[in-house]
Amino acid sequence: MTLGAGLVAGAPATTASSAASAHPPGTKPGISVDALLAAMTLDEKLTFVHGDRDPQSLGQAGYIPGVARLGIPPLRLTDGPAGVRVTHPSTAMPAPVALASAFDETLARRYGEVIGRDGRALGQDVLLSPMVNTIRVPYAGRNFETFSEDPLVSARTVAQEVRGIQSQGLIATVKHYAENNQEADRMAVDVRVDEQTMREIELAGFEAAVKAGAGAVMCSYNKVNGDPGCGSAPLLNGVLKGDWRFGGWVMSDWGATHSTDAIRKGLDQEMPGGTYLGPALRAAILAGTIPQSALDAAVRRILVQMKAFGLLACASPGGPVTGCRLAPRPSFDGAADDRVAQAVAEDGSVLLRNTGNALPLRGAAARDIALIGTPAKYPVIGGGGSSQVTPTRVTTPLDEITKRAGRDATVTYTPGIDTIGVLVPASALSGGPIDLTGDAALPNGQSFVTTRTLTVDTTGDYLIDLQAAQGIAALTVDGTQVASGFALSSELTHFRAIVHLTAGTHSVGINVTGIPSFLTGPLQARLTWVTPQAAQAALDAAVAGARTARTAVVFAYDEGTEGADRTSLALPYHQDRLIEAVAAANPNVVVVLNTGSAVTMPWLSRVRGVLEMYYPGQMGGLATARLLFGDVNPGGKLTQTFPLDDAHTMVTGNPARYPGVNHVEQYDEGVDVGYRWYEAQGQQTLFGFGYGLSYTTFGYSKLRVARGHHGLTVRFTLTNTGNRAGDEVAQVYLGPSPDVHGAQQPVKALAGYEKVHLAPGESRTVEISIDERQLQYWDSTAHRWALGTGSRAVWVGASSRTLPLRTNVTLH
Ligand code: BGC
Repeated sequence: MTLGAGLVAGAPATTASSAASAHPPGTKPGISVDALLAAMTLDEKLTFVHGDRDPQSLGQAGYIPGVARLGIPPLRLTDGPAGVRVTHPSTAMPAPVALASAFDETLARRYGEVIGRDGRALGQDVLLSPMVNTIRVPYAGRNFETFSEDPLVSARTVAQEVRGIQSQGLIATVKHYAENNQEADRMAVDVRVDEQTMREIELAGFEAAVKAGAGAVMCSYNKVNGDPGCGSAPLLNGVLKGDWRFGGWVMSDWGATHSTDAIRKGLDQEMPGGTYLGPALRAAILAGTIPQSALDAAVRRILVQMKAFGLLACASPGGPVTGCRLAPRPSFDGAADDRVAQAVAEDGSVLLRNTGNALPLRGAAARDIALIGTPAKYPVIGGGGSSQVTPTRVTTPLDEITKRAGRDATVTYTPGIDTIGVLVPASALSGGPIDLTGDAALPNGQSFVTTRTLTVDTTGDYLIDLQAAQGIAALTVDGTQVASGFALSSELTHFRAIVHLTAGTHSVGINVTGIPSFLTGPLQARLTWVTPQAAQAALDAAVAGARTARTAVVFAYDEGTEGADRTSLALPYHQDRLIEAVAAANPNVVVVLNTGSAVTMPWLSRVRGVLEMYYPGQMGGLATARLLFGDVNPGGKLTQTFPLDDAHTMVTGNPARYPGVNHVEQYDEGVDVGYRWYEAQGQQTLFGFGYGLSYTTFGYSKLRVARGHHGLTVRFTLTNTGNRAGDEVAQVYLGPSPDVHGAQQPVKALAGYEKVHLAPGESRTVEISIDERQLQYWDSTAHRWALGTGSRAVWVGASSRTLPLRTNVTLH
């Protein structure tokens, strides 16, 4: 093959043999990628390495036009991690963090299959998922969209999900490579992280995804050790394409390309447009400052994946294969999808507290229920940002609990909080109410920027809500930005905060900026508020409802989103106050949490039950009802530590660790991320990593450990000591090696786990294989994995903090 072919823009290069066209699609030998490449002009090649506008868009995130002349079809690239995000409805799956909490690889594969099939059915070719970034700080806005603080859980989950997605013919894109662990300053922050930490923590998940065959990798916005994620030769050319022999292509996150030269550092495709890898790359190639071979290599990587996924079945250097059609796309199977969505919501739920067996609800407690909290009626389906899916249906806890409780039962609903409010009236807002919706919406591409005077007559907490659609939104009060983010949907997104205002005048700044290159609908904006009086009235009504009911179930939530981190681990909108007030009025309170990550629970000792459902997708309402009534038994475990409070986190009082100082952030905790840090520091937690209760109980006994050629075999007996069937996630942790000096070692690290289903009273010998890799550490001097030899502790049990079995094993 001729690397120089196609140098002359616009002129087809030597037409290679069209022998491939003699073969029907899918039969040997298949199209030669090199022959196709040789047949392309420079301009045709360039169309592969940057995104373009889709003339037949379904509202997906990205598009590559293909080369019709050669029978190469376009590529449509869609988000994302919790289902297919196009304008058409699609199955809204539970958040990835819920999937990971099930600790179930079969389920991860099925989750991937659903999204893979939906994506194909909806005309997509590439999925911008899974996200496998480490949950490093509990504040990070996208924790719901990824899996865990632990690299092994992340790696095992991502590998199966990738296999599931790709089994349906959709190309998976593992993202965001690498160290994209927060939203605060995500476009600029420079993560300083040492080699050992990087390899053992963040990169483990990416490595597993690559080994599982992921066709694409998305590089990140942030910098890593000084280089932009999408311009990092050490990460892209070095680790990914070099060490791991990644055969797919690297695309940039949307707007994460910073130079044309990035193509030489390992970037293959700029998204969503062509600022650097479009005309600028063309000019650089013609000027000889970037070699044609760099472009060819990038295009070849994309074509190789397209071929592997059957997308080149009709392509030929001589033109499209006559009479050929690509393999038909599957059809959307809503019922099958819903079954998996429901299974994940159920199996990923984590029972955090159950005093006096308050759950499952039964007897009188199951027939007289006050449901409190807006998610009971307006369910939290997913988090915000690019993973938002338009669901095909919605199940609500209110409907499902009402149905399940039966005809003789009383089930009431009161919101308890008001997060919607009313338009800020002319009496309080200079210039009058703001409502640019309906006919008043602004044409696409315009912006709405204004500063108004807000006059309040009572001192107190006001919820101010900027609702926006199709733009980037920011709300400031008295000069301080209180809410901001992307309003990508054509539905209104809320940017709101509770602010304490003294009686008098205040300034409110509103900025909704259109992004015409990216968003096509009209720009909308509305400003509403909830006064302290209105908030109190909502609370009083909920307390009155709770007082007379036998059981009060409070639904509390947070709003994890791309584009913004949380600033506190407390539930927003004074929901702690609501739960306290309800608990003071009713002794039998159960809290259902719809949060994307860890939250604090100052009311914990005053409620009887807590069930963490995360963002449970479109089947979440049904799953919640089934769990509360015991039709299914919760069996998930936390994949992240829940800190006691904001004063007990790895980053408390340490801005250099998070959110960074002058755009520089130090990962100087090293490999002590998550529970490893809590263990090393002897810090208390609210709930430790791996924690989760069941409606039954389990006993552990008879631990034996054997060294094999590849890793360890850990055997023990697990017994269901309760009186109903249930799942237990049995966990194996490994202690440090006495022989390793000069490398950091966690006090305890998860080395293996297995989800086991046991009937009541059943005992089973469980065998867990520990991979050799889990016995190793990254030797930064030799730049390789090395065995941590000597006598090492092995613990087995139900969570990182409950490990009843312990022995030692000697490794040579
Ligand atoms: C996100 C990606 C997403 C992309 C396309 C970016 O802002 O970080 O995760 O895939 O947008 O929507």
